[in-house]
Amino acid sequence: MSTQDAPIIVGIDVGTTKICTLVARVEANNKFRILGVGIEPSRGLRKGVVVDIASTSKAIKRSIDKAERTSGLEITSAQVSLAGSHVSSINSHGASGVTGGVIDQQDVFRALDAAKAVSIPHNRDIVHVIQRGFSVDGQDGIHKPIGMHGYRLEVEAHIITAASTSLDNLEQCVNTAGAEVEAFVLNPLASAEAVLTETEREMGVVVCDIGGGTTDIAIYINGDVWHTMVMGIGGNLITSDITHGLRLSIEQAEKIKIQYGHAIRSEVSEDDVFQMRPFGDETLKEYRRRDLALIIEARVEELFSYVIQEIKRSGYDGLLPAGMVLTGGSSSLPGISQFARKMFNLPVRVAQPDNLQGMTDQLHDPAFATSVGLLEWTVLMNTISYEKDSYRKQIHQENISWNKVSNFLRRLLP
Ligand SMILES: Nc1ncnc2c1ncn2[C@@H]1O[C@H](COP(=O)(O)OP(=O)(O)OP(=O)(O)O)[C@@H](O)[C@H]1O
Ligand SMILES: [Mg+2]
Repeated sequence: MSTQDAPIIVGIDVGTTKICTLVARVEANNKFRILGVGIEPSRGLRKGVVVDIASTSKAIKRSIDKAERTSGLEITSAQVSLAGSHVSSINSHGASGVTGGVIDQQDVFRALDAAKAVSIPHNRDIVHVIQRGFSVDGQDGIHKPIGMHGYRLEVEAHIITAASTSLDNLEQCVNTAGAEVEAFVLNPLASAEAVLTETEREMGVVVCDIGGGTTDIAIYINGDVWHTMVMGIGGNLITSDITHGLRLSIEQAEKIKIQYGHAIRSEVSEDDVFQMRPFGDETLKEYRRRDLALIIEARVEELFSYVIQEIKRSGYDGLLPAGMVLTGGSSSLPGISQFARKMFNLPVRVAQPDNLQGMTDQLHDPAFATSVGLLEWTVLMNTISYEKDSYRKQIHQENISWNKVSNFLRRLLP
């Protein structure tokens, strides 16, 4: 395949604090090279949801323009990240008769179609249908049904739905910015693609992306996604606590959080101080870093208690020996993994996108897990997917690596 023919993929991560458009060229073995990057401050979102269409579209447009300029390519469509507490998930069951005695891809798709036929309120849309495991003629615990003999194939599926109006608003923002939405991808699924290892997914792991406005969770067990959740809490709350606690402007609070913040008060020396001018005051004031850490620690503790609650509610809390992988901008907070380890009593690591090629300078940062993950997701989805036939652009078939495909099929059918 010549460079000209190589498929171009585009992801737009519409976050609460930043919008990141990435353009990449798919190369041999389904690797990609990032050709264009457009990072812009986000305006018009709250807790991951569009609350101001005009401001959001403008911010997306600026981000697209920048990615077009850096790549020299025109962006007409993209995969778009999705978050917000309007997203919810249900588990469902589907079955289909096996045509021809040996299970093939179409049988799997038919079983997933059946699982999809659950009653969804008219004001919600299905965003993903994810397989969690199969049974063939009553024998459960099957992960790779294709090629097996059988009469009846059943699938356990995880179905992710979102409020239709929120999807419409986000789509309108992207359209107004000049691009079509190829598909929405739930934030934690994209982030997981960027930061989880195959081994972690097999063992059982939770990925937790703590951004500015949302905290996104996905639980992987036996290689498959078993549970997802988006919560409307994130690093912005820490900033606003600092604003109130130390009487500073939002900009000042954000700055000192990043410069002096720590998630564990006792880790900060008592005589560690910094200076700042409180809001409305003329003179500089001295602040103790410990006091700052106290404010941060309280909020981080609350945030993780919600995360733990959610993991417990999923019922899979005992099935996560690989622990937790933290990502998202707020996971750069010093001490956060140590704090999480103590609260969860599980291994915790902070992860960022790695092994990237092309224009990657700014992307080696946990804040860009979803952005890079959107590209990873797109490559996998276009290789072979349940949803592809309906609305995804198809990437050249010769680019398929069957090894990766079968792993992927095991893991996720979106
Ligand atoms: N070193 C740091 N210490 C603490 N917080 C940080 C640090 N660096 C970034 N953050 C925080 O990370 C958050 C932004 O993260 P991120 O870019 O992942 O969010 P987003 O994708 O825009 O929003 P979301 O996904 O929640 O809609 C901000 O609240 C910012 O203050
Ligand atoms: Mg984000």
